[in-house]
Amino acid sequence: MAETSRARSIDLRDFFSAAEARTDRWRQMSAVGRAWETSVARGKPEESSREDAAKLLNEVAILEDYWAYPGSRLMTTVREALKEGNAAVFARVVQKISNALLTGSYRHETAAWDPLEEGEGRVTDVLPPDVQPGNGHKSYFEALVVTPNDPRGWERARNDLRRLRRPEDPFVYELVQVGSFEDGAIGAIFNTNVQAVVLYDGFEFRSRHDLPVMRDFLLRHLRIDPNSVAPGALATTLARAIKSFRPELDIYLLTDRAVEQLAGSDEAAPIRRIFHAVEELMELHLSILDGVSERYEAPYFANLKKYAQRPIGTFHALPVARGKSIFRSNWIRDMGNFYGTNLFLAESSATTGGLDSLLEPTGNIKKAHELAARAFGAKRAYFGTNGTSTSNKIVVQAICKPGDIVIVDRNCHKSHHYGLVLSGAQPYYVEAYPLTQYSMYGAVPLRTIKKALLDCKAEGKLDRVKVVDLTNCTFDGHMYNTRRVMEECLAIKPDLIFLWDEAWFGFARFNPFHRRRTAMGAAAALTARYRDPAYRQEYAAFAAKAGALDPKNDKLLDTHLLPDPDKVRIRVYQTNSTHKSMSALRQGSMMLVWDEDFHHVEGTFEEAFFTHTSTSPNLQIIASLDVARRQMELEGYELTMRMTELALKIRREVNSHPLISKYFHVATAEEMVPAEFRASGIKDYGPPNSSWKDVLDSWDHDEFALDPTRLTVVCGAAGFDGTQFKGLLAERFDIQINKTSRNSILVQTNINNTRSDAAHLIRVLAELSREIEKNLAEKGRAEQDAFAARVKSLMTDVPDLPNFSRFHDVFRENPKGVSNEGHMRPAFFMAYDEANCEFVKLASKDIDTRLKNGPAMVSANFVIPYPPGFPIMVPGQVITEETITFMRKLDVKEIHGYHAAQGLKLLKPDVLAARKGKGEL
Ligand SMILES: Cc1ncc(COP(=O)(O)O)c(C=O)c1O
Repeated sequence: MAETSRARSIDLRDFFSAAEARTDRWRQMSAVGRAWETSVARGKPEESSREDAAKLLNEVAILEDYWAYPGSRLMTTVREALKEGNAAVFARVVQKISNALLTGSYRHETAAWDPLEEGEGRVTDVLPPDVQPGNGHKSYFEALVVTPNDPRGWERARNDLRRLRRPEDPFVYELVQVGSFEDGAIGAIFNTNVQAVVLYDGFEFRSRHDLPVMRDFLLRHLRIDPNSVAPGALATTLARAIKSFRPELDIYLLTDRAVEQLAGSDEAAPIRRIFHAVEELMELHLSILDGVSERYEAPYFANLKKYAQRPIGTFHALPVARGKSIFRSNWIRDMGNFYGTNLFLAESSATTGGLDSLLEPTGNIKKAHELAARAFGAKRAYFGTNGTSTSNKIVVQAICKPGDIVIVDRNCHKSHHYGLVLSGAQPYYVEAYPLTQYSMYGAVPLRTIKKALLDCKAEGKLDRVKVVDLTNCTFDGHMYNTRRVMEECLAIKPDLIFLWDEAWFGFARFNPFHRRRTAMGAAAALTARYRDPAYRQEYAAFAAKAGALDPKNDKLLDTHLLPDPDKVRIRVYQTNSTHKSMSALRQGSMMLVWDEDFHHVEGTFEEAFFTHTSTSPNLQIIASLDVARRQMELEGYELTMRMTELALKIRREVNSHPLISKYFHVATAEEMVPAEFRASGIKDYGPPNSSWKDVLDSWDHDEFALDPTRLTVVCGAAGFDGTQFKGLLAERFDIQINKTSRNSILVQTNINNTRSDAAHLIRVLAELSREIEKNLAEKGRAEQDAFAARVKSLMTDVPDLPNFSRFHDVFRENPKGVSNEGHMRPAFFMAYDEANCEFVKLASKDIDTRLKNGPAMVSANFVIPYPPGFPIMVPGQVITEETITFMRKLDVKEIHGYHAAQGLKLLKPDVLAARKGKGEL
């Protein structure tokens, strides 16, 4: 009861939590119903329980119009039981609905739909039953119907479609009917079960419900102005709006207009199939199933399963294929038992038998690539089986050759740096803004990138600048304004190529909030923008005012630059670690391409792919990429919305908890993105801190936004450094995280997380806070002072992060130039000759002397401490005092490229002198 009165009312503005608020509300109603029933049984009926029940039912009833379950039969039973004061029936049916929603049993138990049946959705297994087609159960979904017909006929229409079900149908679905444009849009947004939308021409705009907030949303974010939509265009406008929100949905239109003409028009582009009038019911039914089957199809996985069942004798390498060397072994049979037979039956080193070849795909891998391209909104997609570490090297090598200049975030993953060494391209390092207080970096400001491009232009080498290479989002969650960055860079060089490393961000395609900040989302948006005649006018006005872009004109750095629509080329590459954010096996990665000039790159892309890809790629990784794509196309929207909601809940709970927040804190958008990059002024995301309108505005326009699913949990105030806290969480509480900084850990939510996981984390933080509080209270003054000193050292005595200094002059073509690119590859390979190198110990006085008097110390290799994980030295880089100070203060154990016993590996001064003027190696 107390729980009921405390609960916030369901707020449709809170997109992320409305669906969960609904399930919560049913659960509360179930508790209230039981209390009411008990009071009646005791002969003292509680009127207040009945009133609470009525209030909850009214609230939830608005949402129920947008879901097929519980549906009109169950809802009528509940309403009547309440009206008649029948507490027993009310309690039983509400509990049944609540359980069915919680367990999802309504998807496969007919009893869950029947008010009279006792069999109700119980919490049975931890894993849901296998509901795949052919295994007894059929996967369930809902089709949203927007219709002008009288609601009194809806039940009959539902039954008509139900009668078309056939045993051979691969899936089963129920209809959700609504009567207006607004309700159609809301249904598609809130009902995550919807996979298909059927529009019957002729519906009206306004909802039966009074939804002012939704109206504002439609107006602002789906850019729909009810006053400017012609009545005849409502259906196609709704189709477009839904597609912009959930591009994966299949949309069908039934109309008595001239369908032949409509079918060929741009207006109908978002519609999968148009039917003339309503008599084509069977065709519609089959089309709905067919549309979902297309997304369900996982050609490589399907074939691999088939292959595993065939009796194949293998006379090729790979003894584990078919598993005989394992299951017949006297010594390693436990491996077989552990992994199960299918892993081995599905192994082969052949590319025949329909298995296709990753290196030369012509069959089901090619098809799987095409499906992935569609799902991720790319023109092409390629699977990688060795992580994004390799995908990055492939893309860098595909698009760069020796001598090209690449403007690259110095803080990016090491695979980019190695890719540049291998390709011989010259990095022009640009710096991300520092977040010194957390010992981490943010992202690279657009001003910095534009300055680099303009400097190159001033020095006459813009033609050599081939690529801008950035990480989106960063490890710590900084999301670029991908559209704005590309737009302004393209204004300076219209054929620039962009490589966006979205290792962490592959999931972002699947909800409309994150999608606006993705590389592929931006590529699509910019392509459409530059084709729009209105853009030509915008550009003409800009060009008239700006004239030819003078690279020496500093004002350009603060002007929104626009590219010439006649010259601009959209050339975007994205890599993502599918395994990091979707259900792919470890190392499963994808390379996505939206390049209008890919025909010039295809050959080199193939070469680069051959260079880096094993000729024995792992079949299970390929299959898992195929299946991960299937999952995201069918439930990515629901899963990514849920993971975002979970993250928002953790943020709210930790930062507002009176005890936890004394020692732990989740860094907010305000703390992770300095004000100069956050024009919206937003401080923290979501109600009650900000309205969703503010958040969406911020995500649309701010230079950087924070991905809320990446939570920097500051633990320094609890006296823990990041590494120590990571260890403690793993050892004592079985909580695993991977990234740390000096005073924080990174917690990320993903599609795997549940509310229980969030509750566990919060409980652990509360327990630790209580422990700290108790310890401090029990300890003497000296220990309290020591704790305070430790906190101060972690939180305020943080080392400055060293910027990239410069390449040594012998690795630069124009040492006097402003642009900082350099020949990294020769420096890297010079270190292969031991005679070229020397070592100096970090503690040695020699270092200080050389810093003061020279000769310059030049790094022979990459030095990459973990954390923070970026190279504080690259081959050929001059080592400065800042770098040394940082290294001396560094208290991490893992520093790639540095062995304390040997010291820093340097290129000898005389070797450098001898190299003068040699250019490329
Ligand atoms: C930004 C970024 N890119 C690429 C990678 C490498 O990805 P993978 O682990 O898939 O090789 C990582 C790994 O942490 C990363 O953080």
